[in-house]
Amino acid sequence: MKIKKGKLLIDQHDKNFMYGGKFGGNFVPETLKKPIDDLTKLFTKLRKDKKFLKERDECFKSYVGSPTPFIKLENLTDYLKGAQIYAKVVSEANGGAHKIYNATVHCLIAKKAGKKFIVGDTGAGYAGKMLSMAAKKFGLKCKIFMGAKDIKRQRPNVEAMKKNGATIVPVTTGSQTLVDAVSECMRYWVSNCDTTHMCVGSTVGPNIFIKICAWSTAQISRELFIQVKEEFGKIPRKIKLLNCVGGGSSAIGFWNEFMDTDAEFVGIEAGGPKNSNLHAAPLTNGSKIGILHGAAQYVIQDKEGQIGSTESISAGLDYPGISPLHCFLKDTKRARYTSANDEEALKAYQLVSKLENISPSLEPSHAFHEAIRLAPRLKSSEVIIVNSCGDSIKDKDIIKQKLGSYKR
Ligand SMILES: Cc1ncc(COP(=O)(O)O)c(C=O)c1O
Repeated sequence: MKIKKGKLLIDQHDKNFMYGGKFGGNFVPETLKKPIDDLTKLFTKLRKDKKFLKERDECFKSYVGSPTPFIKLENLTDYLKGAQIYAKVVSEANGGAHKIYNATVHCLIAKKAGKKFIVGDTGAGYAGKMLSMAAKKFGLKCKIFMGAKDIKRQRPNVEAMKKNGATIVPVTTGSQTLVDAVSECMRYWVSNCDTTHMCVGSTVGPNIFIKICAWSTAQISRELFIQVKEEFGKIPRKIKLLNCVGGGSSAIGFWNEFMDTDAEFVGIEAGGPKNSNLHAAPLTNGSKIGILHGAAQYVIQDKEGQIGSTESISAGLDYPGISPLHCFLKDTKRARYTSANDEEALKAYQLVSKLENISPSLEPSHAFHEAIRLAPRLKSSEVIIVNSCGDSIKDKDIIKQKLGSYKR
């Protein structure tokens, strides 16, 4: 299994949409075959359409706020006395996270498809918030499926969705988290696909949703590639790009443009509570391949192949599966995967917020933990970049509960 140079990651599948012959595919009910084929045809046409690309780029610039800042974390670097640490502050994008790129492109596609309604899933609430924002901008009626547990723990984003006029459907089945929200959203789409477009909030699901999400979010690495060249005059050798991994969209978006360089990709999964068997880290913990949400991937499962329980302090990473693209990057050894537990993520949030003017949410705090662990072992000539893809304000209730107070 190899990654082909000069070919986009999203196009490295066989005719059955399987990456490396093992991951991905379209394992969907018969009724979804036609809507998925239609969407695939439309996207295949649009991604080559100069007018559409111009429209997308204008939205990225004037609506999303691209490019987001790329900054050196001088205080953190001085404190750790090792590699230079930088952050790509994607939380400065409109709405506060990377999910705005995917949501905007999905709304553009929905308009082209002549749909008036759009539905989506959300865990941390950002995918839902961004879809509700973009839907409002483009005049689409929006419905968001969100686990009841996540509704309680991600209040600020829930309030934003309501303010944008979205209907929130609380999902009370299963673990009441992202996995159940995605399932319910897909179930809804099966019965409403004639009138409604579906946006999957990460690089998961049937192949076309993985493609659209990765293609949209890749704008982050296009921005970063230029910013890194401006800062260093070239792409530094073995530059390390650290990103948290839930479904995997921010990491793919962060790495895509660097695929053919010698940049090192490190994905950080959610290790869950300390001293517990529960986690949301299928790649780090040697999970087996199974089918989840229409695609083959490494997935946390029991002996009978039933999807297993997960636990993480961070709602955005609390998902038993992982994008087939990451499974492919792991098996080809193009990326390395590790995990940080809840306590380590909280400590990283505290240190970064104390020393710097950014305050990462609990998802990127997992990646900051790895940066804090790695930096002192590296030379000062080496460079680490962390994708700071969300802001701690959405986690203020959890942080207050765990640490006694919240200060941004
Ligand atoms: C801020 C933030 N980072 C990361 C994630 C994880 O998702 P993904 O791996 O698709 O980027 C989420 C998901 O909601 C999120 O809100």
